[in-house]
Amino acid sequence: MPAPPGAGIVASGPAVGERAPAVHTWGVRDSWTPSSWRSREARHQPEWPDPGALEQALKALAQLPPLVFAGEARALTRHLGAVARGEAFLLQAGDCAESFDSSADSIRDKLRVILQMAVVLTYSGGMPVVKVGRIAGQFAKPRSRPTEVRDDVELPSFLGHIVNDIGFTEAERAPDPDRLLTAYHRAASTLNLLRAFTRGGFADLSQVSSWNREFVASSPAGQRYAQMAGEIDRALRFMTACGVTSDTTPQLHEVEFFTSHEALLLGYEEALTRLDSLTGEWYDCSAHMLWIGERTRQVDGAHVEFLRGVRNPIGCKVGPTATADEVLELCERLNPDREPGRLTLITRMGAERVRELLPPLLAAVRDAGHPVVWACDPMHGNTFTSESGLKTRHFDDVLDEIAGFFAAHAAEGTIPGGVHVELTGDAVTECLGGSDALAPTDLESRYETMCDPRLNARQSVDLAFRVAELLRSRT
Ligand code: PEP
Ligand code: CO
Repeated sequence: MPAPPGAGIVASGPAVGERAPAVHTWGVRDSWTPSSWRSREARHQPEWPDPGALEQALKALAQLPPLVFAGEARALTRHLGAVARGEAFLLQAGDCAESFDSSADSIRDKLRVILQMAVVLTYSGGMPVVKVGRIAGQFAKPRSRPTEVRDDVELPSFLGHIVNDIGFTEAERAPDPDRLLTAYHRAASTLNLLRAFTRGGFADLSQVSSWNREFVASSPAGQRYAQMAGEIDRALRFMTACGVTSDTTPQLHEVEFFTSHEALLLGYEEALTRLDSLTGEWYDCSAHMLWIGERTRQVDGAHVEFLRGVRNPIGCKVGPTATADEVLELCERLNPDREPGRLTLITRMGAERVRELLPPLLAAVRDAGHPVVWACDPMHGNTFTSESGLKTRHFDDVLDEIAGFFAAHAAEGTIPGGVHVELTGDAVTECLGGSDALAPTDLESRYETMCDPRLNARQSVDLAFRVAELLRSRT
């Protein structure tokens, strides 16, 4: 029997700090090891009160099996290569901060809305869609301030469930390294559920109609979705009559779904970095794709150092302060071999400035010949605080940034490769607007996010139709 993809991966790593130097067979030209980031400045790392306990937790993590396999990460790089060439579209979506308390239902509903968006983009946009969740590991958050003050009480900020708890007491906010292990186990069980759903019939194309739950179905976007699903059902009946069924064509029955998160806590990522003995290359086996956040993308910083050496496809956020030179340096450092699909630049400029700030970056990267995937994060440049004090985003700004992103690419002759959005499958009221015209006074009714405001399921499907229109007119 042929070895499954990634079978050569070393199941557990040597203890942290005791690793042998890597065998470099690809673009990592100078010395890199899974721990070489430790000699660089690592921003946004928690202040763990007990370094001994942290060390213990990292050692335990290094003994645990990988969550994903090298062969899967390689497949994603290949798919993203197609995105870089304009032959497919990337949909990266999920929570801002996942909770340790997410129920199976809420994980299923998040997957369902991502699948709905993907089918809209595929059918209506006419493109194969590469589906990547911000899921099964999106537990760590960088924050603008290290502490939070409420009624004269100052406590460490909430840094995501992998570090501390959201409650505002000293005990809940104290960074606890045992949470690193809980994060691993939560990621493993979420991934298990996702694998079951995407391989076990839930994602069968004959189910497209049934993904439209009542909350979405009763909205204008949901009605549009139902009509599209009817067309797909008819097409499937036609194909069945022609002898093309799930039995003959597994793509009708299963969906390829990948995981990703911000690689923020480098100790955690290092502990899950394993040598693939098939290729002699290092993979960060905590997720298929990892990205560097806007606050930690310093070219000489620890996060860039760590991610340049792992062979997974990687992303890097690019915000409004990024210069063309910085972006080119990031491309050189993170993808020196210029491999299509290796590097995704996720731009988040804000709706107001995207048309002015993005074109010079596109031109510089195009002229330097770097084959990046350009994805648009229309969320993080459009956050504001409503009068009631809740962080929110307006659907129109989200859409406007995506439209500006497509326009900038059309002007520069580059490829708008995908979108990166924060959403939930739940009927929350966190972002304003959309076809329901959610108003500021509605925000409080179901405001549940632990971090940034997310599109609800209706707004997400609505957005997918709008993006599909832009995609259809892509030049
Ligand atoms: C995020 O993606 O949740 C995030 C913090 O984004 P950024 O790094 O772009 O601010
Ligand atoms: Co966010």
